[in-house]
Amino acid sequence: MVTVIFPAAGSSKRMGGEVNKIFLELGGEPILIKTLKTFSQSDRVDFLIVVVSENDLDAVEKLLADAEDLKPYVVTVGGSERQYSIANGLKLLPDDADIVLVHDAARPLVSLKVIEGVIDAADKYGGAIAGVPEKNTIKFVDEHNFVTYTPPRNKLVEVQTPQGFRREILLQAYNQAETDNFLGTDDSSLVERIGDHIKVVKSDYRNIKITTPEDLKIAESLIESNFQTSSAKLLPRIGFGYDVHRLVPNRRLILGNVDIPYDFGLDGHSDADVLIHAIIDAMLGAAALGDIGQHFPDNNPKYKGIDSGELLKRVHELIKLHGYSIGNIDSTIVAQKPKLSPHILKMRARLSDILEIDSNSISVKATTTEGLGFTGKGQGISAYATVLLER
Ligand code: CTP
Ligand code: MG
Repeated sequence: MVTVIFPAAGSSKRMGGEVNKIFLELGGEPILIKTLKTFSQSDRVDFLIVVVSENDLDAVEKLLADAEDLKPYVVTVGGSERQYSIANGLKLLPDDADIVLVHDAARPLVSLKVIEGVIDAADKYGGAIAGVPEKNTIKFVDEHNFVTYTPPRNKLVEVQTPQGFRREILLQAYNQAETDNFLGTDDSSLVERIGDHIKVVKSDYRNIKITTPEDLKIAESLIESNFQTSSAKLLPRIGFGYDVHRLVPNRRLILGNVDIPYDFGLDGHSDADVLIHAIIDAMLGAAALGDIGQHFPDNNPKYKGIDSGELLKRVHELIKLHGYSIGNIDSTIVAQKPKLSPHILKMRARLSDILEIDSNSISVKATTTEGLGFTGKGQGISAYATVLLER
């Protein structure tokens, strides 16, 4: 059974401090309610413990009583530090709670996928935390603000909540921290001290903590930019893409990021990789984020001769930023010549490298049109793609 503790007893100083930020409205409902509703959507979550300050107790009780579709919950009073608030919440753990998640009430944009990913990994490894690859270079500095060390960025993750643990591990970590008077900035750091393994579960960048007024604006715009976050079950989305390029002499023929020996090549502003262009359009289409021409205009000299693999990478980053990951890709290249079957495996392998997904999730097929039409006459090559995006 899974119980989630929501620390919500802060004083919102960086938000201005007038009212606790958990009451501020986001997408038409208070941040706290939005967060609780998302967790309540998961079949895996059984019980909610909401930790609030003494001052907010009545208001929160009322808000929760009026909210619909919440899992069973209790509300309790927190402490002067986040860690003490969670320690108070732990006192109310139901006896049959074997997995405990902690999630900041101030992270309303968390996705069901991340919640359930953390539950699964906590069950499997004992401890699991949501995190994203660090985008910035981080420096250690000394007390005079001189740089002492630059940790390699590829070894850094920025961690978020939810953080989930097997009950006995989290309780032991909190007891030990109390005995040692240790105050950590997240729950994982308490568990790390007692030597347990913590798995980082890949989260998404939009799972921001609402800390300052700017964060509220960012969260509003993330919600408005058409993807749903909490109120509905997040269904996968399908997209479709189509592209054509003309075959001309003295150009390389690049399909699926593979150089194919042939007397003709595809003409275009970029490297004219018609297959990748169709896949990009299918990805953008699934996310309703426009098309390749909008993102990479063909009158922009920046994109002249550009490797379409690079464009694919950027579009992949974009859809990840919007909370999507690729489920699978199917595609068909229409070309009378050259024979493409010897190159298909390599194309799938290249696309798999670029997109960091298994090549089993990428299908590339090729067909002729029996000599009919512009492809049949060898005037050009076209490609179709469908992509399923998950979130
Ligand atoms: N929190 C808590 N008890 C505390 C401090 C924080 O339950 N004594 C909760 C907050 O309500 C928030 C989460 O922990 O949901 C993350 O903390 P933070 O974003 O720092 O919120 P605040 O402490 O309220 O904000 P600030 O630090 O700007 O005052
Ligand atoms: Mg704080």
